[in-house]
Amino acid sequence: MLETPRKLSYLAVMKIVQVASELFPYVKTGGLADAAGSLSATLAGHGHNVSVFLPGYRAVLDHHDASGIERLLRIKIEMGDVFMSGEVRVFSPRPNQKIYLICRDELFDRKGVYGNGERDYEDNYHRYIFFCKGVIESLRQLNLQADIVHAHDWQAAMLPLLLRYTERRTATPLALKTIFTIHNIAFQGLFPMRSFHRTNLPDELRGVDGVEYYGQMNFLKAGILFADRVTTVSPRYAQEIQTPEFGCGLDGVIATRAEDLAGLLNGIDTTVWNPATDTHLPATYTAADLAGKATCRTGLLKKLKLDPASPDIPVYGMVCRLTEQKGVQLLLANRDFFLNNDVRLAILGAGDKRLEQAVRDLAAAAPRKIGLAMRLDEAMSHLIEAGSDYFLMPSLFEPCGLNQMYSLAYGTPPLVTQVGGLHDTVRDADAPDTAATGTGITFAPDAHALRDGLRRSLALFADKPRHAAVQARGMATDNSWDKAAQSYEHLYAEML
Ligand code: ADP
Ligand code: GLC
Repeated sequence: MLETPRKLSYLAVMKIVQVASELFPYVKTGGLADAAGSLSATLAGHGHNVSVFLPGYRAVLDHHDASGIERLLRIKIEMGDVFMSGEVRVFSPRPNQKIYLICRDELFDRKGVYGNGERDYEDNYHRYIFFCKGVIESLRQLNLQADIVHAHDWQAAMLPLLLRYTERRTATPLALKTIFTIHNIAFQGLFPMRSFHRTNLPDELRGVDGVEYYGQMNFLKAGILFADRVTTVSPRYAQEIQTPEFGCGLDGVIATRAEDLAGLLNGIDTTVWNPATDTHLPATYTAADLAGKATCRTGLLKKLKLDPASPDIPVYGMVCRLTEQKGVQLLLANRDFFLNNDVRLAILGAGDKRLEQAVRDLAAAAPRKIGLAMRLDEAMSHLIEAGSDYFLMPSLFEPCGLNQMYSLAYGTPPLVTQVGGLHDTVRDADAPDTAATGTGITFAPDAHALRDGLRRSLALFADKPRHAAVQARGMATDNSWDKAAQSYEHLYAEML
């Protein structure tokens, strides 16, 4: 971990630029939106001057929370051998924070964010190079003089390199330091090498010392190599991605930056995820008075048309993208557990068509016990967190994971695999060394270990005082962004 810098230096006001392809509440496909949204809002709350750059998707331009959007600049971006025009719009959702939208309808006025539901858009390289260059052009025209430019995930990964190259070519300083955060190394932004010419970077950057990865162009690799610092979203994942098992082919590249790599845990937005104030719930509750949680439980079962369940019958919840990452296969391999025991299971998720069908089949096998909502549904995700007795997160890998932290806050002990951020945020209630401090149930990422975890959850549920203690410890855990953002402030200050 990084050392704490000189006292007070992190309190100095910094000009921070955050660049991401998603931002809660305006556009979200996963945790990246939550993380980028909360980090930038919290930094603004701490008094920093925060500018966020986001593609001007139609969904954002039309979003009811994005009020007062104004046209700010015209931009002309060199994309290979043509120039493409665009526009920058801006609004300010809170003091100290401005959100800039890089707009060009041809690229961002589409139904999906990254694809049409079946496939990714074929011109994604084009869309996100335009986006990164649009950010750089805005920094130049606005003369923002950023202290820190912080880029997130592959969509913004070309930014540090393009920015430094532009500074050199135009002899105009744009930012003191750049930082790149990997939210998921499995998504790299791999494109045919012919897309390279859109970057207008010199040919020497085409090769293996540049963006090339087995004959293709790899955006994420550029972020890892050319940012001043690289971070990822949990200490454990920072170690894991240096190994072939979790590095998705980039472990060697990561290893070259090991000294500049840090794992900083995400937090949760406690204004959105707090059972005491949650407006999505039929009743609110606190650790001191859990009566409302029982109301949510009844409401959840009813909403999914499941049989009522006495307090002795555990309700399991799961909310995730239905992809291999999330361990859906491990759940399916344990279908007997859900069919043969008197339990309930509530699943909210969409994604991979094959897994969607398999989960549909599972629910169809016991429609009164297993409820399924196959869509994006913010309100339902809150109801599952609140109305379940246990939350399932058997991920094969998990850079950080947010739902296990929401679960802790909602008194819903999570059942998680011992990987990435799950390892760093949940303590096992049965293991001898953590029994007294346990907040959930943890196990290895395989189907047998999940089965064992599920069995242990039944035993824990039958032992009401112990279950209540696990629940209470989870609810008392501070996973707020207030705390999480401080690690970034320390890091920024140290870099400066
Ligand atoms: P990832 O980013 O890998 O998908 P995270 O745990 O970091 O995983 O974040 C996922 C976020 O997306 C959480 O806020 C979760 O509640 C939300 N989410 C996932 N699937 C759905 C869904 N079907 N409906 C509503 N929210 C969802
Ligand atoms: C990614 C990861 C997830 C993480 C999120 C926010 O989508 O899969 O584990 O919580 O980014 O950092």
